[in-house]
Amino acid sequence: MPVSSFDIRRVIRPNILRLEPYRCARDDYSEGVLLDANENSFGPAYQASIVPASGSSDQVHIEARTGGQQLHRYPDPLGREVKQRILKLRPSVAGIDNVFLGVGSDEVIDLLVRITCQPGRDSVLVTPPTYGMYRVVASINDVGVVKVPLIVEGGAFQLDVDAVIKAALDDESIKIIWLCSPGNPTGTVLQEEDVRRVLECGFGGLVVIDEAYVDFTRADRGQSYARLVAEYPGLFVMQTMSKSFGLAGIRLGVGIGGCEVVYHLNNTKAPYSVSTLTLDVAKAALSDEGILKMRAVIDILREQRDEFLIPELRKLPHVGAILGGNDGNFVLCRLVDSSGCASNEIAKSVYTEMAEKRGLVVRFRGTDYGCEGCLRVTVGTAEENRMVIEVMRSLLSAIP
Ligand SMILES: Cc1ncc(COP(=O)(O)O)c(C=O)c1O
Repeated sequence: MPVSSFDIRRVIRPNILRLEPYRCARDDYSEGVLLDANENSFGPAYQASIVPASGSSDQVHIEARTGGQQLHRYPDPLGREVKQRILKLRPSVAGIDNVFLGVGSDEVIDLLVRITCQPGRDSVLVTPPTYGMYRVVASINDVGVVKVPLIVEGGAFQLDVDAVIKAALDDESIKIIWLCSPGNPTGTVLQEEDVRRVLECGFGGLVVIDEAYVDFTRADRGQSYARLVAEYPGLFVMQTMSKSFGLAGIRLGVGIGGCEVVYHLNNTKAPYSVSTLTLDVAKAALSDEGILKMRAVIDILREQRDEFLIPELRKLPHVGAILGGNDGNFVLCRLVDSSGCASNEIAKSVYTEMAEKRGLVVRFRGTDYGCEGCLRVTVGTAEENRMVIEVMRSLLSAIP
């Protein structure tokens, strides 16, 4: 096992290390006559429940059966049953003490910054083009942002490993290195050799790999980096129920890391942040049946991405290239002018026309580093994807 430079006492803020966390009787006792938390024993005034999803037999959907919900009770503050099911999905994770649940990955991002970075003093390292929330959360917490761009030439979107290591070792204020694999908006899986070099470089902070899109990755491009958590105490992996499980509305983000980091995250979060409704739906989605359905949808989505959307986009006029690895549920498509140069003007006008005149909303990413002229198109249903191609064909054919 590599020698680790990770030292929890130097990574976690002193006030968080000293924190006496909020405790409730429910941490110790959750059964019997519960008169400890000032709940309303008469039950919910409004009888809320989630009805099983109904749909035609050829539709793949998740059934959220939540019989026996105790909505007048606070949820399990640690979401233990959901964590047990996550262990089944990710067998390389040692135990539920290595798993954190947050209100979406976005809350996990915020909490990671809050437990490690001293406002006005510390900073995080990001590798543009990347997910925008790392920067936004840093700004909100008055934390600096050090940028080490990806190598973008030829649409590689891989780490500039030497530059990342140099920045991380030269600047003691850096507490987190944010990596995203598959990246957003790049769709590219980071090479394991590069990730290991960063983990082994002597950096004493947290290396966080955001794997929001990991389930869409082709099998031959590698598996989740969660399997390296046992090897590297400074590694923290983030996943989410929002993408492959199609449950963006329940807001459940999953963090996988060393027990000590998870412990401090649990101490810092609001005690009952993840609701009973969310936990119940997640439990159903993480059942054997739910996971099978998730995988079935992914097969369809990958086929739509690889066999339809990408080849059809490539045939369109003014489409210069499909950039990146295409390992997410989206495609990054570069639009070019008549001389073949990336054109933000064309991309912006197509984006606006699509949204305002055709009711079809994609994302303009032309101002991201290395993404000039780019639109990011989420892979939709077969019908939605056909519509994207038809609308883009009609708009792009009208451009000289
Ligand atoms: C890379 C990445 N991380 C995290 C998120 C946020 O996920 P969640 O819905 O779990 O907050 C997104 C959402 O688009 C994302 O692209």
